[in-house]
Amino acid sequence: MSTEEIRAVRYHAYGDESVLQVDQVDRPTPTAGEVLLTVHAASINPIDTYVRAGAAGVGDLPRTIGSDVAGVVTETGSDVTDFEPGDRVYGTCRGVIDEGTIAEAITVPASVLAGLPEAVSFEAGAAAAMTFATAWRALVTRGGLGLGDRCLVSGAAGGVGHAGVQVASAAGATVVGLARPPSQKFVTDLGAEGVVDYRTTDLAGEITAAAGGSIDVALESHAGANLAAVLAALARGGSIVVIGEDEPISLDSDLSMTAKQADADLRFMSLVASAEDQRPLLEAIAPRLADGRFEPGIDSRFDLAETADAYRHLAETGVEGSIVVQVR
Ligand SMILES: NC(=O)c1ccc[n+]([C@@H]2O[C@H](COP(=O)([O-])OP(=O)(O)OC[C@H]3O[C@@H](n4cnc5c(N)ncnc54)[C@H](OP(=O)(O)O)[C@@H]3O)[C@@H](O)[C@H]2O)c1
Repeated sequence: MSTEEIRAVRYHAYGDESVLQVDQVDRPTPTAGEVLLTVHAASINPIDTYVRAGAAGVGDLPRTIGSDVAGVVTETGSDVTDFEPGDRVYGTCRGVIDEGTIAEAITVPASVLAGLPEAVSFEAGAAAAMTFATAWRALVTRGGLGLGDRCLVSGAAGGVGHAGVQVASAAGATVVGLARPPSQKFVTDLGAEGVVDYRTTDLAGEITAAAGGSIDVALESHAGANLAAVLAALARGGSIVVIGEDEPISLDSDLSMTAKQADADLRFMSLVASAEDQRPLLEAIAPRLADGRFEPGIDSRFDLAETADAYRHLAETGVEGSIVVQVR
């Protein structure tokens, strides 16, 4: 067993960014079915902050933070046949029930990883993992988005949203994103036909005007704030896939009537809870990253020692795409 020490960004108590510290820990050893990764890049996602705040209520402290990872396999545990040392890989959804990714080396079940093509940088892999896998699973797998559909992407300048605009455009949909004015050009440059400020007083009206009609599939990251407007903008039989809510989602009798009249399909989805889909999604995304059909936006880069600053930046408005932690 190795006794080499590595750096890991961990928290010993639940709380805000101030609980994060860089610890020296023993390099982990892969058990059966796991690989040891030398981490090159990780990225920052809102779910990390919920877990760090204690919301998930699982796992022992101290814990390493971080969900997304891209790196190189350096060792394989027994029963691992699909990867070997030297393979470039990427993965997501660590750090919730397992240890997180912002460390110089981590162990990960091989079954949730996918190969990362040479043409894709480690930072692009880390930036794309949760964002594109979530957007694809929400819009295509759960939402059934297809050619010619009108699609709404909430939070369109953010991590998942900026991926959602690209996934929906690639599927042949007409895309409208929700974003504040400073980020609207970023969203149209990604392929959205229209962008609406989510703070407008007539959100439903502006969405349908920008889309040229009612919405067939909506990816909703702020369902507490937007559900009523998105239901009002929905085509008959349309789908809303909820991936997040900024405030409690309430469905009073008026809103329920609107939903029934639209024959609305209100769906929820969690990538973390869909471990069986993570590798197939990442395998489908990888060649699209390699040939440029999908391009993760990198808002900013931080070193491992600056991870707390990276999370402070995530909490600010105006982030465009993903925030990356460069580990090597
Ligand atoms: N269910 C799942 O599997 C899953 C997976 C990944 C993420 N999520 C959740 O999805 C949400 C978004 O994740 P993310 O990584 O994209 O976060 P992010 O990078 O922080 O992006 C959030 C975006 O939403 C915008 N926004 C803020 N208030 C809004 C509103 N009322 N309506 C529409 N957009 C609004 C923000 O714009 P400003 O710059 O103006 O603030 C920002 O661009 C989070 O709650 C996250 O936990 C869920």
